[in-house]
Amino acid sequence: MRLDAAFGVVTDLRLGFVGGLWPTIIAIWHVPSLLFQPLEISRIFMSHVWDLYGDSADEAGRAVKNGLITPHAYGVVLDLGAGHGHTINYLDHSRVTKYVAVEPNVHMHAKLRRTASAAGYNEDAGTLLILPCGAENISTILSYLPAPHPPVDTLISVLTLCSIPSPQSTISSLVTEVLKPGGQMLFYEHVLSEREDVVWWQRFWTPLWGIVFDGCRLDRPSHRWIEDVGGWEGETGECLFWHRVGRLVKA
Ligand SMILES: C[S@@+](CC[C@H](N)C(=O)[O-])C[C@H]1O[C@@H](n2cnc3c(N)ncnc32)[C@H](O)[C@@H]1O
Ligand SMILES: *[C@@H]1O[C@H](CO)[C@@H](O)[C@H](O)[C@H]1NC(C)=O
Repeated sequence: MRLDAAFGVVTDLRLGFVGGLWPTIIAIWHVPSLLFQPLEISRIFMSHVWDLYGDSADEAGRAVKNGLITPHAYGVVLDLGAGHGHTINYLDHSRVTKYVAVEPNVHMHAKLRRTASAAGYNEDAGTLLILPCGAENISTILSYLPAPHPPVDTLISVLTLCSIPSPQSTISSLVTEVLKPGGQMLFYEHVLSEREDVVWWQRFWTPLWGIVFDGCRLDRPSHRWIEDVGGWEGETGECLFWHRVGRLVKA
C-alpha cells in the first residue's frame, strides 16, 4: 500500500481530535463531575466530531444512498446509530410511515429531532421515535414498538456497524427478532478490505481511530456478518453494496 494512502487518515485523526477536544474541555469545565464519566466524555466528544464530519460523510455517500434508501425504504424504518439524522433526508415520506432512530448518544438527539421534524416526522404524530439505547439492546427496542413482532419493515445501518458491541450477535438478533419476514436490511458501511496490505493498515490505525471516532473499527467485515445471518431471500452470497474507502483517478 502506498504510504500516502496509508497515512491519509492522519489528517482526519488530527482534525477530529482537535475539533472534538475544545468543546469537550469546555463541557468538562462547566460540569467537572464529567471527569468521572469517561463514556459520557467520549459521547460529548463524538457529537462534536460528527458536527465536523457528518455532512461530508453524507455528501460522500449521497449517490449510493439515493439508490439504496430512497427507492427501497418503506413502512416502519429502524435506523441504527441515527446520529444527526442524515438518513432521514433519503426517506420517501409517502412510503415510510414511521421513523425509529436508535441512537445511544443523547447529545445527538436535538439535531436528530430537528432534521426529522423538517422532513415531517415527529413524536406527537407518532411518526418519529428516538430510542436512547444501543443497537444491541434488543429487548428495549422491542418494548417500544407495538406488536405484532417482529415489528420493522426496513432496517437501515449507515456507518454504524463499525462501532456497535458484539456486532455478530447484535446483527443476528436484529434480523431475527426485530425485522419482519419479508422485511429488508439496507446498509452502507466501510468494511475490512480484501487486500492483505490494506488490512494491515486498517488494523494498525484502529486503536487510535477508535479513540477519536467513538470506538469505530476499520477492520470489521460487517457485510459478511450480515450475509452470515442467512435466511435472505434469493440468497446468492453476493453483496451489492460493497463499500471501499479509497480515491481512484483514471490514468
Ligand atoms: C459514524 S456515526 C453515523 C451516523 C449516521 N448513521 C450517519 O450516517 O450520519 C455512528 C453512530 O453510531 C452511534 N452508535 C455508537 N454506538 C452505538 C450502539 N451501540 N448502537 C447504535 N448506535 C451506536 C454513534 O453515536 C453515532 O451516532
Ligand atoms: C437498554 O436501554 C435502556 C434504556 O436506554 C437502559 O436503561 C438499559 O440499561 C439498557 N440495557 C443494556 C443491557 O444496555
